[in-house]
Amino acid sequence: MAPSLNPTALLRLLGSWNTGTLPAYRELADVVRLLVMDGRIPLDVALPSERALAQSLGVSRTTVTAAYASLREQGFLTAGQGSRGRTCIPHRSVPASMPGLAAPEGLLDLAYASLPAAGEAVHRAFADALTELPALLPGFGYDAMGVAALREAIADKYTADGVPTAPSQILVTSGAQHALNIVLRTLAGKQDRVMVEHPTYPNALDAIRAAGCRVLPVALPAGTSPAWDIDAMVTAMSQQRPAMAYLVPDFHNPTGRIMSDLQRRRLARAAASAGTVLVVDETLRGLNLDGVRTAPMSAFSPAVVSIGSLSKSHWAGLRTGWIRADEDLVARFIAARTVMDLGGPVVEQLAAARLIRSFSDPLDARLEELRHNRESLLRLLEQHLPEWEVEMPKGGLTVWCRLPSPCSTALTVLAPDFGVRLAAGPRFGVGGAFEHYLRVPFTLPPEQLDVAVRALRTAQDKLDTSPQLRRTLKPERPAAVA
Ligand SMILES: Cc1ncc(COP(=O)(O)O)c(C=O)c1O
Repeated sequence: MAPSLNPTALLRLLGSWNTGTLPAYRELADVVRLLVMDGRIPLDVALPSERALAQSLGVSRTTVTAAYASLREQGFLTAGQGSRGRTCIPHRSVPASMPGLAAPEGLLDLAYASLPAAGEAVHRAFADALTELPALLPGFGYDAMGVAALREAIADKYTADGVPTAPSQILVTSGAQHALNIVLRTLAGKQDRVMVEHPTYPNALDAIRAAGCRVLPVALPAGTSPAWDIDAMVTAMSQQRPAMAYLVPDFHNPTGRIMSDLQRRRLARAAASAGTVLVVDETLRGLNLDGVRTAPMSAFSPAVVSIGSLSKSHWAGLRTGWIRADEDLVARFIAARTVMDLGGPVVEQLAAARLIRSFSDPLDARLEELRHNRESLLRLLEQHLPEWEVEMPKGGLTVWCRLPSPCSTALTVLAPDFGVRLAAGPRFGVGGAFEHYLRVPFTLPPEQLDVAVRALRTAQDKLDTSPQLRRTLKPERPAAVA
């Protein structure tokens, strides 16, 4: 016979489960589920009978029946024909938070900061690309450096931005994440230090760790003036001599900050004297919501390695990014790249070249939409979550919020119950930092942001009234983030 849990023991574990913010059966089922997930109720034990538990809790039997039914439905209780159900863990073929997957249908996704394809432009660019394809079909189709038309378009973009660039300085990649992995493989050996802003982009942190490097975090100041602590970065570089620094000076992810030209100049100078290669991720540079004018980091030193991507300005489905560097480095990057893959798909590159050459109108429309979304999100947060401190982003796609208590992970675990998927603050840092922070993207339209922020309010209320819940909530696995 399976071991069983008596009502008194369960009562003790449940603590103050009934906060009154949801129907009692939901709250009871939620807390039991979390206790099972947390290992505090062991697997394969029989829960008390409905009658005994209802009596001990002082609730109606219907409440317990409904709670058990909900647990069964979610896969946390066996069907238990004739006998009492036993605790178990659901087996899903595709877990909701599997790395690399966006939110399942029905959830509002605030973990991905990404937009649908910009208007008709992307579709049109693919149609045009197909008309250019026949000219390339006689070739082998392998091109580790990238299709010439795209390298020329990217180089011209840099030149127009004030940094004269030849197509031979551009290596086309399958997105910025691929570019960063190529750069890490080339420039940073195992155990080398890589300096990062803290917080920073989670997938970059994962790539740095996966390359066997040591992350050297330098905190961004709590306030925005100055937005970067350049003195701390200069000291870290001169004392710790990191092999490279991964930085997002152009609408930093997650804060949306922009680095001033003065700060760029100081950093470039300090990196040169420390022997640190500055690797600058410009994926979000095009999302300049307030029209702030700055020079690209590569304008301050020819040794800067720039990474770019069309994922945020155009569409992540293009899977097209690049590295800009001096020609010798590009040759080393190509050698590193061919260990992983032998080139990108040709039609995507032709479409990307089209988009870069003719994208000003759809980008203007995208910026207008993002400004509107940003305004809506800031207003909604002020209205529904006034205790959250919100930093006004100058560009990019996200707002970085300081929470009144260290509950970011708990909110993230709870939020799907209220229809929202989040990425917890600690994903953006090392050593468990940023439990006090949450990144909220403004990539959803205002009507959906309204629903999402109200859901966050309900989740925050639930946590505020149930310290027990906050302690028991642990993530299954880190959420996929972009
Ligand atoms: C700063 C930054 N770098 C890189 C990426 C990923 O870019 P890609 O889709 O081109 O790999 C993102 C996506 O969110 C990002 O915010």
